[in-house]
Amino acid sequence: MYGAITAVSDFSLEIARGEFFGFLGPNGAGKTTLLRMTSALTAPSAGFISIDDQRVDRNLTDSKRRLGVVPQYSNLENELSALQNLEYHGRLYGLDMGKRRRRSEELLEFAGLSDRKNDKAKTFSGGMRRKLMIVKALMHEPDILLLDEPSAALDAPWRRRIWDLLRELHRQGLTILLTTHYLEEAQALCSRLGMIDCGTLRRTGTPAEIIGEAGNFVLEYFENGETTQRFFDSRAGAVAGAARLESEFRVREANLEDAFIKLTQNRLRDQG
Ligand SMILES: Nc1ncnc2c1ncn2[C@@H]1O[C@H](COP(=O)(O)OP(=O)(O)OP(=O)(O)O)[C@@H](O)[C@H]1O
Ligand SMILES: [Mg+2]
Repeated sequence: MYGAITAVSDFSLEIARGEFFGFLGPNGAGKTTLLRMTSALTAPSAGFISIDDQRVDRNLTDSKRRLGVVPQYSNLENELSALQNLEYHGRLYGLDMGKRRRRSEELLEFAGLSDRKNDKAKTFSGGMRRKLMIVKALMHEPDILLLDEPSAALDAPWRRRIWDLLRELHRQGLTILLTTHYLEEAQALCSRLGMIDCGTLRRTGTPAEIIGEAGNFVLEYFENGETTQRFFDSRAGAVAGAARLESEFRVREANLEDAFIKLTQNRLRDQG
């Protein structure tokens, strides 16, 4: 709760080790609040979050050390170099000097930022900053990585570079939780999704399950100044559904975006 605003409520979810889990939801759905609570930056007014039965709290306990956090907005020190940003984070987490240096160099190499390691963070492009934020979160060797909209405001090539970085980290065994409102990103990366709307979890499932629930095929047509989408289990069903249409139509496979639109439409209908 933020004063009278309930950002997240009635929420129960278990995420297994090694999952690549995505929270999807529109602006204001409660995604950041959820990640902030998971990383103990915001205390829930009721309920709790635990990792392997150990509650997460504000102190630098073992459970908190297991988390690496990449927030929605920059957490870099602009006047420090890339290398100094990483070393500084390592110091906060109690890594000795040798280890701090070694790990910073390794991670900058991994992110392809080595040739810019001595440049100040403020000189980095948006994509480079995001990469630096990701490797910074990895300095203390967490086994769970939380990312709040890791590719927001990045162009398509940079978005794909970030995706590749995350895929590689997942392949190496990291459990990853991210939030996004890019449906393409959720579909490309995540093995399981939770769809959040108005602070509650509306659905969980693999991308294919969520799409299948809405209907695997879409009949789309434009009539009376409005695009309408109707869902069908089969292509034949969708084609049959189009039989009486006078307007132009299109039958295609459904994607996550369709499922998401259907979900939010249902909510608006439920609210009358
Ligand atoms: N510090 C705060 N004080 C008051 N209300 C807040 C605060 N932070 C978030 N909220 C409210 O809580 C709700 C959820 O916000 P949150 O930032 O978690 O959403 P989000 O899904 O991350 O949105 P976005 O996609 O825009 O980042 C919103 O109604 C928001 O206005
Ligand atoms: Mg947010």
